[in-house]
Amino acid sequence: MVKIGAIELPEFPLLLAPMEDVSDPPFRALCKEQGADVVYTEFISSEGLIRDAAKSTMKLDIYEKERPVGIQIFGANLDSMLRAVEIVEKSYPDIIDINFGCPVKKVVSKGAGAGILKDICLMEKLTAEMVKRTHLPVTVKTRLGWDHDSIRIVEVAERLQDVGIKALSIHGRTRAQMYKGNADWVPIAAVKNNPRMHIPIFGNGDVNSPERAMEMRDSYGLDGAMIGRACIGNPWFFKQVKHYFETGTHLEPISMSERVEAARRHLKMAIDWKGEVLGVLETRRHYTNYFKGIPNFKPYRTKMVTSDHSQDVFKAFDEVETKFAAHQFA
Ligand SMILES: Cc1cc2nc3c(=O)[nH]c(=O)nc-3n(C[C@H](O)[C@H](O)[C@H](O)COP(=O)(O)O)c2cc1C
Repeated sequence: MVKIGAIELPEFPLLLAPMEDVSDPPFRALCKEQGADVVYTEFISSEGLIRDAAKSTMKLDIYEKERPVGIQIFGANLDSMLRAVEIVEKSYPDIIDINFGCPVKKVVSKGAGAGILKDICLMEKLTAEMVKRTHLPVTVKTRLGWDHDSIRIVEVAERLQDVGIKALSIHGRTRAQMYKGNADWVPIAAVKNNPRMHIPIFGNGDVNSPERAMEMRDSYGLDGAMIGRACIGNPWFFKQVKHYFETGTHLEPISMSERVEAARRHLKMAIDWKGEVLGVLETRRHYTNYFKGIPNFKPYRTKMVTSDHSQDVFKAFDEVETKFAAHQFA
């Protein structure tokens, strides 16, 4: 059994990766229903939280049905991160995750996200103090290193474990790589194989098929897989991987009616959460992915992403369900 603190998870758990503008409560709920064992929020700015910026605090919303859920925060200032921990605790997440991996310039330039990979002592200190400040399990998500010449992930992992984190997710790229090239899982396996390590080590980066998830488990020996892009528009990915693990065969492709139903539920949950206007607006980005690869879909897509009223979007879903009922997805 894999454990994050006292949270018991099945063998080789599948984790929904934190993704900005994607991993919101409706999407997390759909992924959870389809087999995600842990879900994470998108990253939330510690500075935004302590300023009580509405945009940041709304990201703290979590639902009972998503549990176990981790709230991810980022920042580089100790005082802000500690105050953010106290704010986050009031939302009663199961886990607090620290983002030490975001490669984006505006984050890195402030020393946060992957920027901290240039100052491992600060990374260790921030983590140690945050662990002391909360009764919740703290996890970290990071990258292999700042660049190819500074990969010290084995040492970094030891130091983070020593100050009390309860699990570590590692994206198999450096900051310099951003999202280019292939994720390298070899250094992640080196962390796992270090006899000093006892916390779960989750692999991340390019798990885009059930076969790749199996490879991460069987050839690299990692404790679980954190999955990002493969489940955008495909919350069924978790179920597909689990089915493959259990049977060695692939699930039937997801049917049109299942896709439409997911889109309907997504929109309904978004409206319940944020109201009609924002619910309609913020769910738009998901439709292209749910209905990827359908020929002559453009007029329907346009309707879905330009209608301001949910009733028109629901109508477009009904039309799509009927019109493309026979479409065979890959
Ligand atoms: C749209 C998008 C948003 C992301 N936002 C975050 C984030 O908020 N926090 C974080 O730690 N990583 C973030 N990531 C990185 C992912 O969590 C993950 O590490 C990366 O996509 C590699 O995994 P994958 O190949 O399974 O997608 C984001 C990635 C994408 C594509």
